[in-house]
Amino acid sequence: MNVLLIGGGGREHTIAKKIKESKRLGKFYAIPGNPGIKNIAEVVNCDLNIKNIVNFAKNNAVDLIVCGPEQPLVEGLSDLAKESGIPVFGPSKNGAKLEGSKIYSKEIMAKYDIPTSDYKSFYDYESAYNYIQKRLTYPIVIKADGLAAGKGVKIVQNREDAFDVIKSYMVDKALGASSEHIIIEDFMVGEEMSALYVTDGKTFIPLLPARDYKKVFDDDKGENTGGMGCYAPHNSMTKDLQEEIETKIIHKLKIALEKEGIDYKGVLYVGLMLTNEGAKVVEFNCRFGDPETQVIVPLIESDLLELMYATAKGKIDNQKIKWKNDYAACVVIAMDGYPGDYKKGVKINFKTSPFDFIHAGTKYDGEDIVTNGGRVLNAVALGTSKTGALEQAYKLAQKVSFDGAFYRKDIGK
Ligand code: GLY
Repeated sequence: MNVLLIGGGGREHTIAKKIKESKRLGKFYAIPGNPGIKNIAEVVNCDLNIKNIVNFAKNNAVDLIVCGPEQPLVEGLSDLAKESGIPVFGPSKNGAKLEGSKIYSKEIMAKYDIPTSDYKSFYDYESAYNYIQKRLTYPIVIKADGLAAGKGVKIVQNREDAFDVIKSYMVDKALGASSEHIIIEDFMVGEEMSALYVTDGKTFIPLLPARDYKKVFDDDKGENTGGMGCYAPHNSMTKDLQEEIETKIIHKLKIALEKEGIDYKGVLYVGLMLTNEGAKVVEFNCRFGDPETQVIVPLIESDLLELMYATAKGKIDNQKIKWKNDYAACVVIAMDGYPGDYKKGVKINFKTSPFDFIHAGTKYDGEDIVTNGGRVLNAVALGTSKTGALEQAYKLAQKVSFDGAFYRKDIGK
């Protein structure tokens, strides 16, 4: 089977490593890839847009497109590829809208009675301003409606800060069109859990739950990021909780997909808050999590490519995932300034093979590997215990350095 992998981050490097293990793999291409992926697949030099992707797939007898990031899915990659008969692991444009529009996602949750925090949608600055003026209780969460690469969520502690955020989002358009519309929702208290499911829209196969650490600094201080580290399986998952999530969220979402006529073949990422009132949805994403993938996928014993192909073809009722009996941990090594502005092109010094790391934001500069993103490398390790996996991941993190490198020291705590 010839496979084209879309994406160039740590999530895609991890998926690439796992796909490479499959006996069913024929030719393996990636757009745009990164140095880690280049070590595994043939990296194709073309602009990342959905027409180029589908043209390349058609011209190179690609049997399956695996899409890592959300953007091409939100733009309709699956729908376009379907016109040429190429299966995609990743939902249709309608399905990806669950992530692409926070307002739409909340409307679906309200319509199908899926537990989430109370919220209001705003389409103009004046209405948001008037709402904030009357709002008495804080903190609140302000979210940009559109995609924002992990930068569209602000937890706000008081009215003054709320005014600043809505001005920057809706008037100054800090996130472009993505922040023209917003939602304001109640802040939920509890522990976070990322519960991911592989689904063909009818059958939902749970992946091991992971714990992501979204704040940039230790003790959950600083800005929200895409994720600074992770471990799996999550400590707090129990049989009862799994059942609660499946009854109160997954079952209802399955009905929503059917009733709304949504073609969904890929991963459904359910970001959860485990509150005193039960598990509530923080967000739906239409793809694997990053860095959750870095800890979930290495724990899969069975053939992921086989499962992805069956998913894209729309039939997984006969599929099962075999898991390793281990824990996995991931420490994200980031560049100073992230999640705000940061420098790129800084030389990375490895004290071990560069390919002992998962590459997230790197590129080649001649023979050197240099930084090319805010989240640069991931130190990932497996162990027979959570502590063991974390110890190994932190040991690995010490084997790399670059000017501006930093990482959280409290992943797993
Ligand atoms: N780690 C959060 C996400 O992938 O959305």
